[in-house]
Amino acid sequence: MKIDAVTIFPEYFSPLKLSLLGKAQEAGLVEFGIHDLRSYATNVHNQVDDTPYGGGAGMVMMPEVWGQALDKLMEIDSDLIILTPAGKRFSQSMAAKFSTASHLVFACGRYEGIDDRVRQYYQSKNFRVHEVSIGDYVLGGGEVASLVMIEAITRLIPGVLGNPESLAQESHNEQDYLEYPNFTKPATWRDISVPEILLSGNHGEIAKWRAAQAVERGKSNL
Ligand code: ADE
Repeated sequence: MKIDAVTIFPEYFSPLKLSLLGKAQEAGLVEFGIHDLRSYATNVHNQVDDTPYGGGAGMVMMPEVWGQALDKLMEIDSDLIILTPAGKRFSQSMAAKFSTASHLVFACGRYEGIDDRVRQYYQSKNFRVHEVSIGDYVLGGGEVASLVMIEAITRLIPGVLGNPESLAQESHNEQDYLEYPNFTKPATWRDISVPEILLSGNHGEIAKWRAAQAVERGKSNL
């Protein structure tokens, strides 16, 4: 999979080199391209935003510069993801769908967002365009939201996780409950002991206990 992101702060994406995502890239399972929006600016001051038509607070990112950047990146099979708190809420099932895509392009808006004609234009050209929010809160821009999505999506690409079983077992698995609590050595830490059942070696009982715990945790989170 190829993942491109367009931003005025390319440095935000340096964590892509680390850990799981860095290894996935080294293994050739995913390729990241980070693009500086400002390099597509057409005026002398490298301006990328302007005041909103109709008045109001803040600045809006100009369509021309976004058009220049996205025309370079969008291909027939690309999905364009526009990050905005007004978008559809990101979820594990959305991550699973995007993990089978061939090319994702993340448009990271800042300020009050990107001129809506950018969305309209690429939709009218029959590209798949998705406005996505990672939650009901307002971030300074789409960069951190993109990183969240990229991590959740990339780890679902076959071969990225060393142990595919952890995918099958994991929490937020499109149903609405969370995973069971986990423990490792030592068996007692600061007077708190690991639940006896986990030391029993009885795999049937352990599986039952874990299922019950998972449901319990899910309930408290709904
Ligand atoms: N930009 C600002 N806030 C955001 C959010 N919650 N999700 C996605 N993009 C954003």
